[in-house]
Amino acid sequence: MARRALITGITGQDGSYLAEDLLDQGYDVWGLVRGQANPRVSRVRKLLQDVQLVRGDLLDQGSLISAVERVQPDEVYNLGAISFVPMSWEQAELTAEVTGMGVLRMLEAIRVCSGITASRSSGSGQIRFYQASSSEMFGQVRETPQNERTPFHPRSPYGVAKAYGHFLTQNYRESYGMFAVSGILFNHESPRRGAEFVTRKVTLGVARIKLGLASELRLGNLEARRDWGYAGDYVKAMRLMLHAETPEDYVIGTGHTQSVRELVAAAFEAAGLDWEQYVVGDQALHRPAEVDLLCADPKKARVQLGWEPTVAFEELVAMMVESDLRLLSAGIDLEQDSSWP
Ligand code: NAP
Ligand code: GDD
Repeated sequence: MARRALITGITGQDGSYLAEDLLDQGYDVWGLVRGQANPRVSRVRKLLQDVQLVRGDLLDQGSLISAVERVQPDEVYNLGAISFVPMSWEQAELTAEVTGMGVLRMLEAIRVCSGITASRSSGSGQIRFYQASSSEMFGQVRETPQNERTPFHPRSPYGVAKAYGHFLTQNYRESYGMFAVSGILFNHESPRRGAEFVTRKVTLGVARIKLGLASELRLGNLEARRDWGYAGDYVKAMRLMLHAETPEDYVIGTGHTQSVRELVAAAFEAAGLDWEQYVVGDQALHRPAEVDLLCADPKKARVQLGWEPTVAFEELVAMMVESDLRLLSAGIDLEQDSSWP
């Protein structure tokens, strides 16, 4: 019988790529969707017609128990979160509830539905659980590159909430013998990236300027450095982690780092433009506390999972610029139609 996966965050970037990957692998894929009329569900229905949907919300324990009971998954991928770092300062409590406590609720739903208690630990046939941890947990980094043993020093309410979810996942593994793992993923991008994140903001900005739809692009801190990879590669690592013999946490990234300035230069160059003529610095876009430098050491994933990134930084940026040029040239208005390319 086909393995069955339940994905929270199915309407997000990673949910879409993971669903495609799991469908390719012959899985029955279910996606958790929230809200009475969530406009982003239509893009799941358009692109991922073989995904079945179940209603639920990471803020609502009962709904998660019902979803797990209905779907009877072999694997749960918890990708749902408030994931935009600046929003976590504006709505810190909501971020803690969704991004942090949401992990507790999902783990509890699995524990309760599997009949696991302190004296009756998880056995074979157990539900395997993946938690979307983040390199934001490293924050003000203690060493470079960052690996699975690097201490955390989160710099945003989002990073703090992710650290809670990370430690809780470890704790359920240790307390109940659950197959529960965290992928500590560094930034990963794609043509389906949300428009609020810097890569997509830049590639959409470049496309608008190239097509005469805008004359400038306002940005915050150009000096921050990130390890940027391709989302399509990273979701494969999630599946590999749940197929490993033992439940362990892994760092997933490229091992290279670029500044926002280098990202901007590469994106404008991909469209034949000189960035310095268009980019305007905006102090209001700087963060209360910044993560200055992220760079992964993905050796453990390479050796133990056989995972490697396949898309280099310049290729990724060019892919996103081309996609946004195509989208905007076709007259698609992102405010009206957020379908995935
Ligand atoms: P994304 O595009 O922002 O998607 C976030 C998803 O969370 C959406 O599907 C959203 O659904 C869902 N969600 C929000 N609130 C929810 C709630 N109360 N209950 C259930 N679902 C809820 O994020 P992404 O880039 O795909 O990232 C996936 C996960 O990986 C996130 O947990 C993120 O924090 C983490 N992560 C991402 C990166 C990266 O670089 N992309 C790196 C490390 C970790 P709605 O449509 O209902 O809003
Ligand atoms: N979003 C944004 N907008 N970022 C800007 C801008 C701007 O106008 N100008 C400069 N930046 C800088 C930010 O200050 C940050 O240093 C960097 O660009 C990257 O910002 P984002 O793309 O918003 O991503 P992030 O690194 O904060 O968080 C992403 O990666 C994390 C993993 O490290 C998100 O996907 C998180 O959910 C994820 O956990």
